[in-house]
Amino acid sequence: MRGKFITLEGMDGAGKSTHIPTITQILQVRGLEVLVTREPGGTELGERLRELLLHQPMHPETETLLMFAARREHIAQVIRPALMRGAWVISDRFTDASFAYQCGGRGVSYDKMRVLESWVQEDLQPDLTLLFDVSVEVSTQRLAAARDPDRFERENADFFSRIRAAYLARANENPHRFRIIDGSQPIKIIKQLLEEVISSI
Ligand code: TMP
Repeated sequence: MRGKFITLEGMDGAGKSTHIPTITQILQVRGLEVLVTREPGGTELGERLRELLLHQPMHPETETLLMFAARREHIAQVIRPALMRGAWVISDRFTDASFAYQCGGRGVSYDKMRVLESWVQEDLQPDLTLLFDVSVEVSTQRLAAARDPDRFERENADFFSRIRAAYLARANENPHRFRIIDGSQPIKIIKQLLEEVISSI
């Protein structure tokens, strides 16, 4: 049986990565094989593209194309083979991040993004997307503690407001697979919520 594909999304500082061990554990207790991966990245080529994407200034459309190039490789090498052998895949970000950051944040055309989405993913969509939502203020405060901010983390509050709005719009368009989690809640409460959400799929 094909495994399920879970993606984690949210602004920088929303805390999504903190919860990966919890989700992994919930699934492993059920006896499932779990593969944790991330975007941009997840393959050798993808990790090299990640270095460029996070640190090298470039045109917003170049940024978009490189995100999708890394994604194409990730789907072919990692995501599809794992799902096909029955593993559950947890990806720290996927295409919703491109809609939020490149469309919402950088202003790249939504229609072009849709073309890339169907080209690169074909029929693949996450079964569940956990959107960790926090206010721009919370995100900014958490990022202030980051020692060496990357090209995205250095952006201003307006950029992050647009990203948050784009994520919420995307969740509205895809209510069947999105669950919005208030990322400003205590970790213990978020863990309980995750138990409920994961056990329902
Ligand atoms: P991370 O810090 O969550 O690993 O993500 C790295 C950065 O890459 C983050 O600031 C968001 C950005 N990003 C995009 O702009 N578009 C994308 O499609 C993805 C996957 C990530």
